[in-house]
Amino acid sequence: MANHDCRFPIEIQPESHEQVALAQKIANQIYPSLVIPPTQHLSFTALTLLINKQDIALYSPYLKTTIKVDFLNGAVGYRCKRSSNKELIARAVKLKNIKNPRVLDITAGLGRDGFILASLGYQISMVEKSPIVHLLLKDGLKRANQIPELSEITCRIFNIYEDSIDYIYRMDKQDYPEIIYMDPMFPERNKSALVKKEMQLLQDLVGTDQNDPLLLEVALKYAQKRVVVKRPRLAPPIKGPNPSFALQGKSIRFDIYQT
Ligand SMILES: C[S@@+](CC[C@H](N)C(=O)[O-])C[C@H]1O[C@@H](n2cnc3c(N)ncnc32)[C@H](O)[C@@H]1O
Repeated sequence: MANHDCRFPIEIQPESHEQVALAQKIANQIYPSLVIPPTQHLSFTALTLLINKQDIALYSPYLKTTIKVDFLNGAVGYRCKRSSNKELIARAVKLKNIKNPRVLDITAGLGRDGFILASLGYQISMVEKSPIVHLLLKDGLKRANQIPELSEITCRIFNIYEDSIDYIYRMDKQDYPEIIYMDPMFPERNKSALVKKEMQLLQDLVGTDQNDPLLLEVALKYAQKRVVVKRPRLAPPIKGPNPSFALQGKSIRFDIYQT
């Protein structure tokens, strides 16, 4: 059973009786959590996983916002249609003279960056330590898998639930990736109100990560070619060695460490 880091038990509410068994199965895997029968009112203090026929979403009663992973219509879907090798993230991971480098995303989150990299052709393993974030991502990938134009992308994604440090330590030498990508949580980093709310909800769920310097240290040891770190444009680099160089966008920056 996986422990989430939230202060309150997570409530899990199936939309109808058809989803009760799935809700119970999830409740057995995530601790502490509570299944709320379909028509019963929610507590208004807890975060709630809403389960319906189509998807699984996370609802925050105080932010009055819902997040789910949607690779077709959400921000990623829109960006993927326009993803090109000129995008900042594409330039950040681009290695000269190496065909098909493997990317390990050690802060998978809702999988947006990972999905964009997969849409650019990279083989990518995404590792997430929060059981709830992992569940949302797994659900989004499952739906994407059923859509032919997206399944060409999802077939390049390997989704893992684990703390990345444990995962990296367990890897065999021949599996060490050329690139390790990380995007640790950073408070209030985006100006758009909707993204702000989504980020706030994600932060309420997983907290702001305290293990960034350790994650970077481990990443630098195991990445064969480079580590790419996403930061808000004006934030300092993560504590540790200086990046080899940086790529600046309008609101974000990629710090790149050659290993
Ligand atoms: C800002 S979010 C990443 C967003 C992601 N890049 C995206 O595009 O959706 C950071 C995520 O990293 C996860 N995380 C932090 N430390 C981790 C670790 N040691 N192992 C695995 N996941 C970690 C957090 O739980 C959180 O979901």
